[in-house]
Amino acid sequence: MSEHVAVVVGGASGLGRATARAMHAQGYRVTVADRDIEGATAVAAEFGGTATAVDVTDEAQVEALFSDVLARHGALHAVVNTAGTSGLSPIVEHDVAHWRKIVDINLVGAFIVLKHAGRALADGGVLVSITSLNARQAGAGLSAYCSAKAGLSMLTQVAALELAPRRIRVNAIAPGLVITPLNEAIGKIPGITEDYVENTPLGRPGTPEEIAAAAMYLCSEQAAWITGEVLDINGGAHLQRHPNLQKHLSAR
Ligand SMILES: NC(=O)c1ccc[n+]([C@@H]2O[C@H](COP(=O)([O-])OP(=O)(O)OC[C@H]3O[C@@H](n4cnc5c(N)ncnc54)[C@H](O)[C@@H]3O)[C@@H](O)[C@H]2O)c1
Repeated sequence: MSEHVAVVVGGASGLGRATARAMHAQGYRVTVADRDIEGATAVAAEFGGTATAVDVTDEAQVEALFSDVLARHGALHAVVNTAGTSGLSPIVEHDVAHWRKIVDINLVGAFIVLKHAGRALADGGVLVSITSLNARQAGAGLSAYCSAKAGLSMLTQVAALELAPRRIRVNAIAPGLVITPLNEAIGKIPGITEDYVENTPLGRPGTPEEIAAAAMYLCSEQAAWITGEVLDINGGAHLQRHPNLQKHLSAR
């Protein structure tokens, strides 16, 4: 395992940071890539990894990221893409440029990463993307995010089919609520976090480490026969209803 090389895209914060740490602990040589280069550098410095600035919506930057990894290490075995963003607005008020930006990062960016990681990975390599509970549960105000994540779940399945001849496995994780900078703003709206937790049978938000553990599993040999899978990790929240964001927003 010590010769295995991994890239964690979006590794400067939240789920990506926890995944980068977990992959390093498993013996991967980890490159932490993020548009937040300061954050990526701080994470990579924890374990002597490399940090690279990349915006997933810029194809040339993503292509350069993977060429650079191949030039430095000679091979690439695992890519976990956690880069993402959210945004809240009712459809009838949603600024189109803002809607496009959310889809651009969460879906088009994920496609660009799959495209260039798919080219760079060694045969038998593995790709993990992070979709969301919102790929299957609609949330009022989250039209761009829900649409992008639902698209990413399907994109995962198409990529799994296309890359299977090279034994590259392509999977995704769909987390429920995990408290990170991503949902700081929404978490400040009174009642929302409580509503999420009330609709989570296991009665609490998840932790970044729990999502990282699932990413590690999907990257491991234990998951050698799993591809095209979107793994729900949400304390059972997919079995109940999505919080009523509209109610909380109008109560502000
Ligand atoms: N936290 C949750 O509750 C939750 C739930 C479901 C899904 N997700 C998904 O998990 C992923 C990670 O989220 P998080 O909670 O760790 O958020 P986060 O904000 O802590 O981390 C996201 C990282 O992505 C990076 N990023 C954003 N846009 C980028 C771009 N264009 N190019 C490169 N990097 C970019 C950010 O700089 C940041 O480091 C996201 O895709 C998010 O949609 C999170």
